[in-house]
Amino acid sequence: MSDSRGLADRVAVVTGAAGGMGAAISHRLAVAGAFVIAADVNEEAGTAVAAAIRESGHEADFIATDVSQPTAVAALVQATMDMHGRLDCAVNAAAIEFEQVPLAEAEDDDFERMMAVNLRSVFLCMKYEIQAMLSTGRGGSIVNIGSTNSFRPQVNQPAYTASKHGVVGLTKSAALDYTKHGIRVNAIAPGAIDTPMLREALERWSLDPQRVERRMSLFGRFGTPREIANAALWLCSDDSSFTTGHTLAVDGGFLAH
Ligand SMILES: NC(=O)c1ccc[n+]([C@@H]2O[C@H](COP(=O)([O-])OP(=O)(O)OC[C@H]3O[C@@H](n4cnc5c(N)ncnc54)[C@H](O)[C@@H]3O)[C@@H](O)[C@H]2O)c1
Repeated sequence: MSDSRGLADRVAVVTGAAGGMGAAISHRLAVAGAFVIAADVNEEAGTAVAAAIRESGHEADFIATDVSQPTAVAALVQATMDMHGRLDCAVNAAAIEFEQVPLAEAEDDDFERMMAVNLRSVFLCMKYEIQAMLSTGRGGSIVNIGSTNSFRPQVNQPAYTASKHGVVGLTKSAALDYTKHGIRVNAIAPGAIDTPMLREALERWSLDPQRVERRMSLFGRFGTPREIANAALWLCSDDSSFTTGHTLAVDGGFLAH
């Protein structure tokens, strides 16, 4: 970043803010000067993230939000606008991942749940975030968190893979429609990043972390939430002013091989 306070006076919403990446993104945007509205379904952990940001001398509030619920997402954006009168950046990171079976063995309800939390949420968040950005006329920047699964599926993850492919489609579609209004829309495709979601998956699949590190990254290690946060900050800031409709792989080179 050319300016370490590149988001000074901006207001940012981050969903999934209680989780590994969402928390790191919330901290990173706040340090860059944004007032961060941290949103998550996990009230206790989300409240702690916002409190830690404030204790470090930066600005954040927490709003409990289930991003799969239209009324909750609308209320999150409305509360942001009521408090601040503007929304400049949004990072839509909330998601779940729990599958361990191939498509023909998958439960219909599990597919529906994955789609509601991972894909419909991105549709809902962007819908209300874009409405807010249009209402101020200031434009904005939206970053959706996809996955390397958006391009290269892992075995036994049919619904997660479909949901993450969909995130890239929504990102491109919104970029086409709203770049002319000054709203840039991009995505990040993280590789294997050391967060609670990854650690739970390793345990569920009884995988040796060191073998996975070697298989999933040319660096032979997991990525850190901070490395995703750095990419999110760049995409939120004016430093990426000519970038829209793009999905940035931050994956240790996983998609290169
Ligand atoms: N960790 C990885 O290796 C990895 C790789 C590729 C993509 N991703 C993606 O990165 C993003 C962040 O994942 P993470 O690894 O930090 O996971 P995480 O499980 O640590 O955090 C996810 C957060 O989302 C929240 N959440 C879940 N359902 C929600 C809902 N209905 N409403 C609001 N919040 C909800 C959880 O409470 C949690 O705080 C996700 O979109 C995930 O799919 C992760």
